[in-house]
Amino acid sequence: MSFMSKALAFAGAAATSALVAAAAQAAELKVGYSLSETSHYGVAATVFGEELEKRTGGKYTIEQYPANALGGEREMVEGAQIGTVDVVITSTGPVGNFVPETLITDIPFLFKNYEHAHAVLDGPIGQEILDKFPEQGLIALAWGENGFRNLTNSKRAVKTPADAEGLKIRTMENPVHMEAFSEFGILPTPMAFPELFTALQQGTVDGQENPIGVILSAKFSEVQKHISLTNHVYSPALIILSPVVWDGLSDDEKAAFTESARIAAAAMRKKVREDADNGVAILKEQGMEVVEEVDRAAFETALEPLMAKYSERFGKDRLDAIINHD
Ligand code: PAF
Repeated sequence: MSFMSKALAFAGAAATSALVAAAAQAAELKVGYSLSETSHYGVAATVFGEELEKRTGGKYTIEQYPANALGGEREMVEGAQIGTVDVVITSTGPVGNFVPETLITDIPFLFKNYEHAHAVLDGPIGQEILDKFPEQGLIALAWGENGFRNLTNSKRAVKTPADAEGLKIRTMENPVHMEAFSEFGILPTPMAFPELFTALQQGTVDGQENPIGVILSAKFSEVQKHISLTNHVYSPALIILSPVVWDGLSDDEKAAFTESARIAAAAMRKKVREDADNGVAILKEQGMEVVEEVDRAAFETALEPLMAKYSERFGKDRLDAIINHD
């Protein structure tokens, strides 16, 4: 073999072993969420995967598991804790059972609008909450968004808390939501999302509450007649990573994961807004009767006794810092 052929053979072998080493380290991450691939969570998962692949030179790619394929949100968060799920895109619904500091964000009528929620969650208050996750064996990469929740039911048009009295409404497995619904005179029935469609269909519950994007994506117009645009609570979402993945990352890779999640969260928020703006017309076309003129003041008044309790539980200063945030 000539010197040149030997040099080429050596270079080829070195390149092959570098590729083999890179491939050995490359990882495909399981990303789980509860909604369809076309939903705001699906949009976020796709953007997260694209950004991550680009920012890690192809070392990390993702496989999406939409529509509860890895279980309900609580189960997926548990999976992230033990490393059977790599990434979860979830509402805060069940997260307060793991990281109680998130519960303050679930208080009804806390956030005035999307801009208010983003300013709080993207600022120091939101970051302090994200910083609590590692103590509970989870990494929160970014705040995303599920949207403002609206009440649907199969029984009657609801404009005031009095109209809602006695309705059996599925809530998320979230103590703050359950307490608030009781205060409205509603019978809250906590239930994991994967069970909800059948429960509505069979009349086990009369209704549920979710953002417009979810109501569309889950096809609830097939099993619910009435929707009231209550916008009673802002529903944040989170992009959560398993510490099993995080602990194996270099500092540059950690930065790539965090930045990819932030970009994905921005895409999620954009899709939530599009659905909120366009979705009501679609729900009407699908036959839902929409109550647009909800007496929100009456719902807020009904909540006043609970707000006093929340002030004690979460701290008046902290609550005021959120309420009065620009
Ligand atoms: O109602 C819920 O459980 C949540 O809003 C959902 C639909 C799973 C999205 O996070």
